[in-house]
Amino acid sequence: MRAPQMPPMPEHRPDRVPFWRHVMLFKRDILSTQPARLYRAKMAEVKLPFLHSVMVNTPDLVWLVLQERPSDFPKSERVREGLKLLLGESVFVTNGATWARQRRMIDPAFEGGRLRDTFPAMWAAAEAAAARLAPGAREIEEATSHAAADVIFRTLFSVPIEDATASEVYHTFRAHQRSSPILNLAALIPMPGWAPRYFPRATRETARHIRSLITTMTARRMAEIEAGTAPDDLATKIMTTRDPETGARFTTEEMVDQVAIFFLAGHETSASALAWTLYLIATHPDWQAKLIEEAQALGPHLGGPAPDFAILRQFPLIRDTFREALRLYPPVPMLVREATRPETFRERRLGPGTQVIVSPWHMGRNERIWDAPHEFRPERWQEAATKRCARDAFLPFSAGPRVCTGAGFAMAEAVLILARILCEWELAPVAGRVPVPIAHMTVRAKDGIWLELRRL
Ligand code: HEM
Repeated sequence: MRAPQMPPMPEHRPDRVPFWRHVMLFKRDILSTQPARLYRAKMAEVKLPFLHSVMVNTPDLVWLVLQERPSDFPKSERVREGLKLLLGESVFVTNGATWARQRRMIDPAFEGGRLRDTFPAMWAAAEAAAARLAPGAREIEEATSHAAADVIFRTLFSVPIEDATASEVYHTFRAHQRSSPILNLAALIPMPGWAPRYFPRATRETARHIRSLITTMTARRMAEIEAGTAPDDLATKIMTTRDPETGARFTTEEMVDQVAIFFLAGHETSASALAWTLYLIATHPDWQAKLIEEAQALGPHLGGPAPDFAILRQFPLIRDTFREALRLYPPVPMLVREATRPETFRERRLGPGTQVIVSPWHMGRNERIWDAPHEFRPERWQEAATKRCARDAFLPFSAGPRVCTGAGFAMAEAVLILARILCEWELAPVAGRVPVPIAHMTVRAKDGIWLELRRL
């Protein structure tokens, strides 16, 4: 029996640090700003000049914020400010009636039956991803990013990532990320809420370019819909769905905002989760052997047309492995909301405007809830006790009305891509390259995730 490795943790800061150090850490990486005691603390409060925030770490408070009174804790204005360049008025950043209307028109495209329809496009992307792999040491986040972006373009617009516009969106997006690494968590940087947010020139330019490319794709699709020649994919479904309350459809401009979030939320997150899952598999060789055996059910289908969607049921261990990776490395580490009225949480008074943070990262590793919370133990998902822990503290897709629209889609995509890789490849860690988790737009590794690939 070979010894498994402990999943790597971020560097944690000491309990008390001076203000300037806090700001520096925030700007570098939001995970290393958090002290290790937050894995046990029920709530943590940060009061800095220009920032009052609380992190809620108990199931009752998480429930209150996400499920019971979500409209009293809308998406933070600060988050919206940070994302508006790229996302405009997309469903990810809106609140209230605008958000509810957008969800009514988007959700039907992601329902169970539609997922089945998108499966052949996912299959084609998984085949293409496997074909791009080569033996030897390689940085795997790059491969999973490419694969996840390909899934989005194929399912949304029926084009592979090699399509000229799709490929340009993908490459411009990577440049955009490099220019503005902590976009989503910028709300937690201590600065006055009223101060105009500063975006580097490169960030503004890449955002504008991405949006103009997406506008080209969306306008072309609108014309195809009008002409009756549009393919039956997610974009067509969303653009032809009428709001059951008003009867209106998305305009091209409104749809550009939604496509931007599907691309961002749908590819960054899956790429991060897949890369960490592959790393965990590589560092647990005995478990990997079981997964490789399970994945062989795909063997007869390789190189052929997509099998039936139901084939995913044949990969329960791969599914549990992905869940365990989402628990340990939730791609969206923290959800930021804003109190809109005075609240009292655990005897602390919060004023309107307080940033309320729900942390999938800390809940997934909460030492009061999970057994051996920092260990990779995918078998836990077959134990009855895990059901309760998961209900209370498994939040990779958030919860309540603002739960991730693409959760079912992401689970299907991940199980398929993992099975497709493990059907043909064995993975091992690269000596001396232990990835250090950091939170940029999603949870990534400081210097990438390196794996050694061997053909089976
Ligand atoms: C492993 C993959 C994924 C993870 C871990 C994930 C996680 C999340 C989380 C945590 C949120 C809530 C964020 C917040 O409230 O602040 C969210 C929202 C969202 N996700 Fe995902 N996501 C994934 C994949 C996808 C995919 C594939 C799509 C679509 C193709 C998607 C579309 C969305 C959208 C549209 C929202 C906004 C929902 C709203 O605010 O009402 N996600 N996702």
